Amino acid sequence: MLIRIPARSDCHASEVTPEAIYRSRRRFLKSAALAGAATGMPSLAKASGQYRDVPDAAAPPWFVGKLQDAHWRAVVAEGEAITPYPDATQYNNFYEFGPNKGDPARYAEELKVEPWSVLIDGEVEQPGRYLLEDLIAESRLEERIYRLRCVEAWSMVIPWLGIPLSDLVQKVRPLSAAKFVRFETAYRPDEMRGTRSSFALIDWPYVEGLRMDEAMHPLSLLAVGMYGRVLPNQNGAPLRLVVPWKYGFKSIKSIVRISFVREQPSTTWQSMAPEEYGFYANVNPQVSHPRWSQARERRLPGSLFSANVRETLLFNGYADQVAGLYASMDLTKDY
Ligand code: MTE
Repeated sequence: MLIRIPARSDCHASEVTPEAIYRSRRRFLKSAALAGAATGMPSLAKASGQYRDVPDAAAPPWFVGKLQDAHWRAVVAEGEAITPYPDATQYNNFYEFGPNKGDPARYAEELKVEPWSVLIDGEVEQPGRYLLEDLIAESRLEERIYRLRCVEAWSMVIPWLGIPLSDLVQKVRPLSAAKFVRFETAYRPDEMRGTRSSFALIDWPYVEGLRMDEAMHPLSLLAVGMYGRVLPNQNGAPLRLVVPWKYGFKSIKSIVRISFVREQPSTTWQSMAPEEYGFYANVNPQVSHPRWSQARERRLPGSLFSANVRETLLFNGYADQVAGLYASMDLTKDY
């Protein structure tokens, strides 16, 4: 994301998986997971093009238990084909593991995600360090199929599994002084080789933030899984934010701290290049990035014969649900 838009040759030719195929895979996965077979199971989605066959991450017992009660297809993306699993898990941005799209799939398994705790602090009634499974214990997992639009002008369609962010907010009970939510990614140089590089420009840890009403919006999700399985490390295990109407960089991965704060937090990309990346980062085809247009996007995977380019939609197609949050704002200034 720093400077480079990936060249077309970075895209791997593979067929878009019709949803029916993904669903039959998922049914199989569900029964396999319940039988305790999810651990170390090789990826069922056959690696296409140049992708490797990567074994699935081991699903912890709390995840397997919650999967039984999941609300499948709670939100769908009408008319959209789900991105094949190999593309979603081997073409990633996760700078803590390196700057290249293949680095996270290659190195993120070095991150230890079990057990995982999250610090809740700031203007909140129930601060403390919570085990992840305790934090989400009362919430039912929901499958939500969302478009993901990266600021680099590529996009995917991902079936996430997670809980509404509003569930967590309500559980810990922020005080009225809390106006924003600040999220922080783990910073573990021993396990995250990208953070050891002297070429990395990022001031670790990676930080993101939302206004309180954005955090409470029903579309905001805390994901712990995708494609009916536990979240792979390269996609932000074990806990990541998903805000589908915003550019992908707002969807912070491997969260270890959630703070309820009075002031708008300073966030990673905005503080690094404020003229290029805003705090709001709402998907907007009318507001160009200073170095490229945001009017179109490449829907992955492309092929040798087609880059699969399509028009970008305002708020990534979720305008009818979220435009009201920004009614009084000038989106060209608050980009
Ligand atoms: N979170 C952290 N901690 N570090 C990152 O480098 N990259 C962001 C976002 N979350 C990033 C992150 C960007 S730029 C994008 S587009 C999405 O993750 C990509 O998510 P994906 O790899 O699951 O597609």
